[in-house]
Amino acid sequence: MTQTMASMKLIVTLLVAHIVASASAVSYSRPFWSQTSYGAKTYLNATSAVSDLNVFTNLTVEAIYVSNTSMRLRVYPTSLKAGQEAPYVVPDVVLPGNTAPASATTAATGTVYNLGQHIPAGGGKVLEVVPNSDDDPTAYLTLENLVFNRQLVSFTTSFRGTTDKLYGYGEHDYHYFLNTEDNVTLSLWNTDNGTPWKNPMYGVHPIVFHSDPTNNRHFGVFWANSHAQNIHIEGDAITYTAVGGIIDLYLIFDTTPMGVVQQYHALVGPSAVPPYWALGTHQCRWGYTNLSVVEAVVAGYEAAGIPLEVMWNDIDYMDQFRVFTTDPTRYPQAALKAFVEGLHAKNMRYIQITDPGVAQATDYSVYTSGVAAGVYVNTSTDGKPLINAVWPGWTVFPDFTADKAAQWWAQQIAQYRALVPIDGMWLDMNELGTFCAGQCDVAVGTPWSVDWKTVDWSRFTVDICMPNNCTVVNSSLNYPPENPLFNGYQLYNKTLDMTGVTSLGRYYETKAFYGLMEERASYEALLAQTGERPFLLSRASYAGSGRYTAHWTGDNTATWGPKEGGLYDSVQGVLAANLWGIPMVGADIGGFGGTTSEELVVRWYQLGVFYTFTRNHHDLQGPGQEPYVFSELAQSAIRDAIFTRYRLLPYLFTYLMLANQNQGPVLRHLSLQFPTDSNTYADLMQFMVGDALLVSPVYEQATSDYMARGVYFPAGAWYHLERTTLLGLPTDKGITVIFGFNSTLYGIVPVFVRGGNVIPFHPTPAMTVTATKASGIGLKVFFDRNESSIGQVQIATDAPLESQNVTVVNFLGVGTLRTGSLVTMSATAPKLNPTLTTRVPVYVRFPICDELTPNATINVTIDGVDVTESSLSNFTCSGFDVLLPLGQDGSTVFHLQWTTSGFAPTEAPADAPTSSNTGAIVGGVLGGAAGAVVIAVAVYFLKFRHVANDYNEVPMRQEV
Ligand code: GLC
Repeated sequence: MTQTMASMKLIVTLLVAHIVASASAVSYSRPFWSQTSYGAKTYLNATSAVSDLNVFTNLTVEAIYVSNTSMRLRVYPTSLKAGQEAPYVVPDVVLPGNTAPASATTAATGTVYNLGQHIPAGGGKVLEVVPNSDDDPTAYLTLENLVFNRQLVSFTTSFRGTTDKLYGYGEHDYHYFLNTEDNVTLSLWNTDNGTPWKNPMYGVHPIVFHSDPTNNRHFGVFWANSHAQNIHIEGDAITYTAVGGIIDLYLIFDTTPMGVVQQYHALVGPSAVPPYWALGTHQCRWGYTNLSVVEAVVAGYEAAGIPLEVMWNDIDYMDQFRVFTTDPTRYPQAALKAFVEGLHAKNMRYIQITDPGVAQATDYSVYTSGVAAGVYVNTSTDGKPLINAVWPGWTVFPDFTADKAAQWWAQQIAQYRALVPIDGMWLDMNELGTFCAGQCDVAVGTPWSVDWKTVDWSRFTVDICMPNNCTVVNSSLNYPPENPLFNGYQLYNKTLDMTGVTSLGRYYETKAFYGLMEERASYEALLAQTGERPFLLSRASYAGSGRYTAHWTGDNTATWGPKEGGLYDSVQGVLAANLWGIPMVGADIGGFGGTTSEELVVRWYQLGVFYTFTRNHHDLQGPGQEPYVFSELAQSAIRDAIFTRYRLLPYLFTYLMLANQNQGPVLRHLSLQFPTDSNTYADLMQFMVGDALLVSPVYEQATSDYMARGVYFPAGAWYHLERTTLLGLPTDKGITVIFGFNSTLYGIVPVFVRGGNVIPFHPTPAMTVTATKASGIGLKVFFDRNESSIGQVQIATDAPLESQNVTVVNFLGVGTLRTGSLVTMSATAPKLNPTLTTRVPVYVRFPICDELTPNATINVTIDGVDVTESSLSNFTCSGFDVLLPLGQDGSTVFHLQWTTSGFAPTEAPADAPTSSNTGAIVGGVLGGAAGAVVIAVAVYFLKFRHVANDYNEVPMRQEV
């Protein structure tokens, strides 16, 4: 192919572009585009000689056609002068295919983007990528104020001010939408920072999603760069800055935000699907001082009748905090092994923390074998393993970017698993997070005696690091000309010296994906050793980490409100991780730091059971926060919340499978699900789980017995999840509904289902996932006003997906209560469930409740057999329940049909209050959602009374 990207019209104004660099002003000239086999190319050459070797004066720009809805803009030095080093490019092992030269692509017509048109003279703009539409004159991306230096690469792009909503870029604990305030700088650099606000945190995901709901324009900009970096959002411009690398932008365009996110996930790789058990509940804490304490926790759960699937240990289990060891007296290996085997016998699991730092001690075979194999990150100064301090004291660090280190790591895991059969790994401190800055010069065997419970962190540097020759090498890698990090963080703070040597580059270049490489090594090791899909939980992450690991939001606090780093902020944390392609994610339930309260823990569980990953974890200080330490009432509420989750496991798992199959996040901001509803582009404390579930957690501490919670419902028919009853709302527009509830009784979290969805569920939650799964799969069929309902269930074993036939069953409901059908269809052989000892229900619900005469009848058949007599119950105007025959459940193929007679003649259905008949149209802002417009408010008083799996609404509905 010689002529490609034909439609990427090269209507380029040939101008002398003045590119003003803030650091070193360089003018580049004459960006003549020429077509190439892969797209288009141009050169930017400095107009006058620049002697500074730090400045790249001759740049090549490639516009690479990827697809009609995506392209790549790559800017790199055309040639290097003597003494100049090529800038770092993210390696393929991190981002598959990233370093491949641009190659010929098939000719395309119909790209949604073009290369720059109408570039005005002056103003520092050199390039534009614009929509391929005359209706939309605004650029997607501009390259202005270009700086291309060895340690400072920067450009500004104009966007559409407040009409574009920006999201994605992280990790930080900032709002979901990045431009909720003007003049915001957010920096990325994997750092051991929990809360608070805006700090660079554990992950690096340089992806900015843009959504303009007014003009229905959605796109994403991913900068493949692994250096410390930031974005500064001001007015209608974003300035991107990194301390090195090239400009390598992957641009993604789509007609919906979901489409953009899906394309991004396709770029960084399919997310790992956890084993089914990992969807159960997890209990952890730092400070379980010995095995008896851990046994007591398991017993505490059992006695309370609260499901615990996975017991965890933090660093307490280790001998002197050395990885791959157990403390001989507090956690004797044989007893620990027996304990884990006991858990396995009960279909429970066990996970331990594994930090990357290896104690520097000659009596420690993990250390000595690593030295012998040459697997550690080395210093640039003496070529020896770089030393810093973590929990065990003086520590060295495996260089996971080297294959030999990954192999050595796999051996350590294998040897350890023979002693303690852990079911997954918790990868912490892998940013790398360390306690001194730079590198330390301490001899092997140097004594260490820090009590982590009483340590004075404010004196750590002075008391520990400095006396032990910890220094930061005097190098521009540690002190780049411009520091992009927020809050004065230096690149080397809480981590290794930037000059550290790894196999794939200097630590300055590879730190961002150190965690990802550890995840990869651990994933491959566990996969090979267990033959099952590994479960990993990692704190650090980089673009693509979702291929290997789950994530938790790190060290949060036992707090409620926004900007406190607790319950409220956790929602933006888990939604952001889903955007990055890490769908399995949760926050420490109850709060990691600080002292929690019973009410906070209950509310947090009611939210946390809808995280994809549900773990209670707490730090060393303060009292325990396991569910059973609280009152009976609290335990009951937590148990109910967990049971709600366990019923939903087939639904959750299906969406994790769909995420892997590039169908987008599991946990979704409302704007992702309802992109044409501009009310959803706000900082709402609500989110979707898949297409069907709307979760609206209670996020405020009660101030009186009765509380109110405003919930925004986008247009559609909405039902209560558990009660399967319809909320009578207008279906044609969004509406905010205020729910009143009895706060002292821990009424359940408001969770709703959108009509049009079939939800597969386990009918009987039990103490383990295995036992819950054995109750089979029932279906909740919620029809929409368009008389349809669709859904899916995917069922897999814990074996690798490619080694099994995954069962996929699609559900299609058509009709109304008058007549209709539910067809189940399977692309693979259906797995009958003959071991079921109880019959599984199908609930069918409709959004219109036409009055029935007293002698109304319904006839229901399953596969042509009349089951009305034997299987029907709860026949009302809003639907009915049937029990499937034994041996049949939602994973089997069947055809359910019904016909009803006996409708009373009615006028138009009057089930839905409208804004006029509620008599309560209120304008304003609810739930702290800046900019959210309340269209109408219908007030419901739901007096949630906490009784087993039910709750009462008294009165059922009250309109004001
Ligand atoms: C880090 C982790 C935290 C863990 C602690 C001790 O702070 O983020 O979860 O409990 O280290 O290992």
